Amino acid sequence: MGIDLSKMTCIEDLRQVAERRVPRMFYDYADSGSYTQGTYRANEAQFQRIQLRQRVAVNMQGRSTRSTMVGEDVAMPVAIAPTGLTGMQHADGEILAAQAAKEFGIPFTLSTMSICSLEDIAEHTGRHPFWFQLYMMRDRDFMERLIERAKAANCSALQLTLDLQILGQRHKDIKNGLSTPPRPTLANLINLATKPRWCLGMLATRRRSFGNIVGHVTGVADMSSLSSWTADQFDPTLNWADVEWVKKRWGGKLILKGIMDAEDARLAADSGADALVVSNHGGRQLDGAPASIDALPAIAQAVDRRIEVWMDGGIRSGQDVLKARALGARGTLIGRSFLYGLGAFGRPGVARALQIIHKELDVTMAFCGHTDIENVGPEILLPGTYPQPAGQ
Ligand SMILES: Cc1cc2nc3c(=O)[nH]c(=O)nc-3n(C[C@H](O)[C@H](O)[C@H](O)COP(=O)(O)O)c2cc1C
Repeated sequence: MGIDLSKMTCIEDLRQVAERRVPRMFYDYADSGSYTQGTYRANEAQFQRIQLRQRVAVNMQGRSTRSTMVGEDVAMPVAIAPTGLTGMQHADGEILAAQAAKEFGIPFTLSTMSICSLEDIAEHTGRHPFWFQLYMMRDRDFMERLIERAKAANCSALQLTLDLQILGQRHKDIKNGLSTPPRPTLANLINLATKPRWCLGMLATRRRSFGNIVGHVTGVADMSSLSSWTADQFDPTLNWADVEWVKKRWGGKLILKGIMDAEDARLAADSGADALVVSNHGGRQLDGAPASIDALPAIAQAVDRRIEVWMDGGIRSGQDVLKARALGARGTLIGRSFLYGLGAFGRPGVARALQIIHKELDVTMAFCGHTDIENVGPEILLPGTYPQPAGQ
């Protein structure tokens, strides 16, 4: 039975449909955090503690949520976060999300661990610029080729992820036997039988494995050899000299993702990167780390505008975007919010997620007495309800 997209009025609505339509192992892969999931839950919960100051009798006409992220115009200060296996939430998922982002006027970031390849995205978005996320791998020849492929695909910025050289454990992924494509076990087949829409989409596409990797690395032909390849390949020796190595080879806008500490933030600014992302990887890595929104103010203060500070983790509404902006994030990334839309409805679902967040952002900004997001600062927050840098 069809579901009317216009009845999807918040991100939670999309999440519930995604939960029904996406095979269990891939839904769980998106909707979980590491270990106790404490940090995963805190990312969302800590936004709720921050209260906004309602202002009245302020002219609300002619509002704008337009801004820039590393110099690129954005319809709102939100970009699509890099997420692995997105083409398993929905067939051709990365292509559909990139198309929706392009149409809306916000950046799309492709993960190294995507299903659709760099070349797929370039081809299906008319070579519209997008961003690429890189993991540091031991095979430097492969990395150099990947960087060259990102340039050739017209990527306009590179996000280097610093917080995943070793993997935090997600219990459900192990219990579900997460693999791409799913192994034909009895439990998987029973679950897949209840997801006909997903199965038909997958049968109609050839994109079912890691598009940036398979066929580009010798010895990797399928997922079973690929999983051992990734386990061996993520380079645990990653350090600031490697950041310099990537910066030199890339030569364009560089964004460092996964910063949670003021001292690391200063080093990130020293490295000459253009932006950093305050991020705990959506609560998927260090369980026990603070919520990203709580880590943001101290990092913004430490960086002191030397480079742009962005944040991600727990953004499920436009109110969250506005709070992040008020606390010093020039831009934000959204992970699950777009994944739920994608899993539920494909491209229109991603578009819907972006419309929902944009409308909430616009209306909330107006209630707080602002018409231009560029002028929003901490004055929209109720004192005593928001995190402050230590010592204040
Ligand atoms: C399913 C999933 C896969 C992810 N894969 C990647 C990845 O490949 N590279 C990366 O840098 N971050 C990855 N992340 C982290 C996101 O980029 C982002 O930091 C996080 O999703 C933000 O939190 P949110 O989902 O609460 O918005 C992933 C997150 C999710 C939920």
